[in-house]
Amino acid sequence: MKIETLIIGAGAAGMMAAAHAGPGVLVVDHAKAAGEKIRISGGGRCNFTNLHASPGNFLSQNPHFCKSALKRYTQWDFISLVDQHQIKWHEKTLGQLFCDNSARDIIAMLRAEMERAGAQLWLQTTVSEISHDGTHFRATLTRDGRDTTVSARNLIVASGGKSIPKMGATGLAYQIAQQFGLPIITPRPGLVPLTFSDDRFKPLAGVSTPARISAGGTSFDEALLFTHRGLSGPAVLQASSYWTEGDAISVNLTPATLLPKLQAQRQSDGRKSFTTILSQHLPARLIAHLEQTLPLSGNIGDQSDAALQSICDALENWELTPSGSEGYRTAEVTLGGVDTDALSSKTMESTVPGLYFIGECVDVTGWLGGYNFQWAWSSGWAAGAAI
Ligand code: FDA
Repeated sequence: MKIETLIIGAGAAGMMAAAHAGPGVLVVDHAKAAGEKIRISGGGRCNFTNLHASPGNFLSQNPHFCKSALKRYTQWDFISLVDQHQIKWHEKTLGQLFCDNSARDIIAMLRAEMERAGAQLWLQTTVSEISHDGTHFRATLTRDGRDTTVSARNLIVASGGKSIPKMGATGLAYQIAQQFGLPIITPRPGLVPLTFSDDRFKPLAGVSTPARISAGGTSFDEALLFTHRGLSGPAVLQASSYWTEGDAISVNLTPATLLPKLQAQRQSDGRKSFTTILSQHLPARLIAHLEQTLPLSGNIGDQSDAALQSICDALENWELTPSGSEGYRTAEVTLGGVDTDALSSKTMESTVPGLYFIGECVDVTGWLGGYNFQWAWSSGWAAGAAI
């Protein structure tokens, strides 16, 4: 079967590319349905972009690489597409846009755009024996037990990263890149809860508090959530992408300065216990935990300036060294991937003519908050428009 363009992966990036790649497009996916990650994203409402998306919200060995695609297909372009399809949306927080109704609306929109462009979609299809004869890519597609050999001028790899293997994530994109001699930045889990080898945080499981988490020189002010195995919540997920195994993270539990408040309460509530006062600023279960290591006994009225200062310092600089992360089982994204040195930032075409990589399999990873889908839309559009 001869086609113009074979796209592997009917996820966010693959469907976006299919809608813009012109005639003769076949999209294949081994899953039962297209856009499964879109369906479960944002708690079922898909945080489909971010009003503030800009290159500074992305991690990559080459921080400049994402600029061109993000500039040529912006969050405003995607919002306008969503509006054209009369999908209602709202801003939740920090510029994060969600569907009012359901993430399925975004999938239906992309399916409609693909149909409008005349792209075919084959689900429950596996891909093997990919080769290139100098002008065309060949691949064996297997569905319903039958093999079809396709020959395509272009091959767009949009099979995502390794996150959540239970949902069908595979390392296929990296294998294809390696097969064609393209370099890979070692993939690792990102936007992932951090774990500790002991169960020190077990009694705190479920406690959430605003915090500033810093890792690898970058800080995030969002919620921190204690889990049975360690730390999670948006602030920790964000910082996890900047964390290197073996390093400490810094937890600031009182980003809004606490010392003047405690000094004032020492005057007004001097007979209250120090822990009672602290529980007005931080969750009581967290204070009970911190009491095991910090001198929090006595009344607030008994605390000297130096004692208050030293407690505030400890609360602002809590150094913790995670033993690891929950890994690809729960990671929202995969950091690393196809080295951008081997790709055109304008078209996503690799140094092998006709071979493109888009979306999460590329070494461009966004923050939490709609940035990863924006990269899928922008890079998918860039490849589609170039064909
Ligand atoms: P994606 O993973 O979407 O698609 C890849 C496709 O390739 C899949 O359909 C898969 O079945 C297929 N495939 C893989 N291997 C194959 C093989 N060997 N053969 C055939 N097909 C194969 N981001 C965001 O911006 N806002 C959000 O709200 C969320 N929420 C969220 C929640 C959860 C639980 C997760 C896990 C992730 C998110 N994300 C997110 C991240 C976002 O889902 C992710 O960045 C994009 O889906 C990446 O789009 P891609 O199209 O690159 O890959």
